[in-house]
Order: sequence, then C-alpha cells, then structure tokens
Amino acid sequence: MTRTPDNYSLDLEHLDDHLDRVAQIIGDHIRNIGREPVVAQTTFEAVRGSFPAELPRTGHDPDTVLDEVLAAFSPVNTRIGHPRFLAWITTSPAPAGTLGELLSVGFNQAPLSFKGGPAATALENIVLTWFAELFGYGEGWGGTLVSGGTVANLMGITVARQAHVPGVAEKGLQGMERPITLYASDQGHMSISRSAMLLGIGHDHVRSVPSDDQFRMRLDVLRDMVEEDRRNGMHPFCVVAQAGSVSTGTIDPLNELADFCEEQGMWLHVDAAYGGAALLSETHRHKLSGIHRADSICVDPHKWFFVPLECGITLFKSSAQQKATFRAKAAYLGQESDWDLKNTNFQLSRQGRALKLWFTMRTYGTDRLAAIVDRNCRMAQLFLTLASESPHWEPAAQADLSIACARFLPEDHPTWSQDALDQLHIDILAELERSGVGFLTPARIGGKAAVRLCIANHRTTEDDIRLLFTTMTDIGLGLSTAGRTTA
Ligand SMILES: Cc1ncc(COP(=O)(O)O)c(C=O)c1O
Repeated sequence: MTRTPDNYSLDLEHLDDHLDRVAQIIGDHIRNIGREPVVAQTTFEAVRGSFPAELPRTGHDPDTVLDEVLAAFSPVNTRIGHPRFLAWITTSPAPAGTLGELLSVGFNQAPLSFKGGPAATALENIVLTWFAELFGYGEGWGGTLVSGGTVANLMGITVARQAHVPGVAEKGLQGMERPITLYASDQGHMSISRSAMLLGIGHDHVRSVPSDDQFRMRLDVLRDMVEEDRRNGMHPFCVVAQAGSVSTGTIDPLNELADFCEEQGMWLHVDAAYGGAALLSETHRHKLSGIHRADSICVDPHKWFFVPLECGITLFKSSAQQKATFRAKAAYLGQESDWDLKNTNFQLSRQGRALKLWFTMRTYGTDRLAAIVDRNCRMAQLFLTLASESPHWEPAAQADLSIACARFLPEDHPTWSQDALDQLHIDILAELERSGVGFLTPARIGGKAAVRLCIANHRTTEDDIRLLFTTMTDIGLGLSTAGRTTA
C-alpha cells in the first residue's frame, strides 16, 4: 500500500503474510529450544549494536523489520525451556500457552470493564475459580490475574494493610499512631520486603524470622518478636509464609501459622508462587495442608504451571476485602458492572492473561501437569542421591519439592577457606554455562554457596540430570586441582 499524506491508517496490506511469517519464526524457536548453547556468550554492547537504534522518522517494510528482529534475537535468544535451563524459577513454557498468548495479543481486549472485553472478563473469572478450587477457598473468595509473583505478593500485602489498618487509604501510614510491622522468614522472597517499601511500611519494619535447620519459619521466635513489637508500641499486622521458598523450595508450617495469626488477629499471606503447583499432585499436595486458611495467596502460573511469562495470581479469602481496597470510580469509566476487573486490581488497562492460562490447562489437563510436577520432584531427589553417593559432593538441603541444592567438595576441602569454596561454586556454574550444557543459578544456604537446580521443566529427563551432574563434577575437579584462589 502506498502511503499518501491523507492515509493515516496503520493497517498493513499484507497482514496475513506477516502473521504467517511470525508464526513460522515462533514455531522454529520452539522446535529448536533444546539446542545448545542454553545461554549465549555475548555482551550488552554487542547485542545492542546488532539493532538499528536510531529513532525511525520514516517507516520500513514489516518484512525488513522482521529481518532485523530475527538477525538480532535469534543468535542470542536464551533457551528458556531448554531441558537443562534450571535457573531461578523460570520454567519451560507450554507451547499451548503460547497459542493463547498470541490470541490474547491479537484480540487486544481491555477487561478493565466488562464492556472492554466480555470474554476476557468471563475467562479470568473461570480460571480464577479453578485456582480457588485447587487452593480450597470457599464461597466469597476473590482474586486477580497479575504479572507475576512480585506483584501478587504486593497485592496480598496491600489488602492486608487495608484490612488491618483502618483509615490507611485516606490518611496513609503517616496518619497512624503505631508503626505497622510485617513478619516473614529469613527464607522469604525479596518481593516481600520490596512490597513493604512500596507500601510505605519500610524495610526496617519487616521482621526476618529465623528458620530452623530445615529452613522453616520458627514459630517460637515469631511469637517472641510479635510480643516484643507490641510491647514497644508497634502494630504487628501480617505474617507472610513461604509455600516453596526460592532457595530450597521449603514450605513453612502453614496450619500452625494460621492458628497463630487467628489467635493474634493478624493477616496470613502465603507466597506459593512456585510451590502452589504441588497442589496438583496427589503425592505432594499434603505438604501444603492448611493453605486454604490463608487470607491471601500468591501463585505464579508462569512458574510450575508452565504458562508463558507473565502470569501471576493473587487469591483472597474475601472478595469484599479485595474490592474494598481496589474499587475504582471515575466518570469517564462509564457504566459499571459487577464484573469489572478494574475493581479487583490497582491496574486499569491491563493485558488479558486468562487466555494463555486457559489454553495451557484445557490443552494438557491438570492430571498431565501433575505428572510433570511429580517427575520434576523425583529428579530433584535423583540429583541429591547422586550427590550423596559421590565423594565429590554433599547435599546442601533436603528437597521438599523440585529444588535441589548441593555443594562440591574438593579433595582437600578442609584446607579451603569458605570464601574460596564459595568462589569455586560460582566458577563451576560459570564454566557450566560457557560449556553450553546447562544454565543454573547458585544459592546461599546456611551462609555457604551451593549449586541449585530448580527442576520445573516439562522437557528435563533423568539423562539431563545425570549429564549436569557429571559435567559439573568434571568442571569442579578440573578447577579445584588446577589451582585455586586463596581468598
Ligand atoms: C517464592 C517466590 N515468590 C515470589 C517470586 C517472584 O515472582 P516473579 O518473578 O514472578 O515476580 C518468586 C520468584 O522466583 C519466588 O520464587
């Protein structure tokens, strides 16, 4: 189509051809995801330099733009979803979820109001109902889809603050007589303290409760801390429990924490961003017993439910408390409906996230997802067994779910300083990454470095786990005998 000054439409003449090409590119990417290297060895400058970066005053043909994107992305795309990408808690996305995401972007609905996206609104309600059922919430529950666990935790703590600090929406925390305090274990995710910062509570009012030798929050110390804070004029209002901590996958004692919060009149928020998927599994479900008693729950379908990024959920025991916090009114928003999603979340315009979640769960079914969760947990045990049977390794923590952590032991390790041992683990992982065989991220457990495998991946096999183990053993032996830093 020739652009003329009176043609202001942005429509594309060969839209179908471009869509076909994009579909082909995505298909190629997914088909090639198991190829090595898992992570490209490159630099920010090199990658930035591979894009035409000047502000485009005049346009270009979409095929040219696609060529540019392909040339820059393809050589360096991190193969998230590779069977040996076991870093962070970033799981292998299910291709069916990608179909849902593509449709969602194409339909571009605006479900802030029912009228902005009737099907997107209804579908969000349906997928949230599934999660409310999975987590055991009864009538009156509420929830919202969000970008991920960080925001899901922020949403939970926001409603906790609103419910427990009367007048906070109007006066802010500076209008309150007593500073409010929040409690999480020393294994709590960083997003909890970040939420406290964003909500005006402040990092200093987040109490880090020590965990026991199995990394579970110590209730006796929690009790002492809350009592001491009350004596000192504070207002303890919320406990955040982990159901699958980021370092070791540990689950806090949820029933005991629910009892404690009931007794103390405090809000219980459970961060099940990763571990929530264990509810799918008949074998592991019991480990989250008591989670239904939480006032709010964070879970990330973009973790162990294999939904493409971004997809998080906050569930609330009471939708009334959720809506009391987020109800949005403005003349320009027009006619109200009971189902307007603007009243369930602080965002107005937002991406429809339900389609990719719906597509994933409808396509595979929860039984199949549960089988993968079980298999991933067995693989974590396999890695720990390999570590405990080897003279070169020791398990660093037990695996409640599918995160396995172990330490490499150089032959003369008693003579090594802790700093040198810590550095060795960083070096082993860097070398593993350079080899192209796999990509893992480290953990600090009991103050010492360890390698950490987060096996939340539908493509990983036992052979992958064995290959990672032998590759890291070879690297560790090579590095530790070839000379070491004397840090
Ligand atoms: C336990 C836990 N909570 C919260 C988060 C934050 O989730 P997201 O990265 O989706 O914001 C993570 C991320 O790994 C996590 O492991």
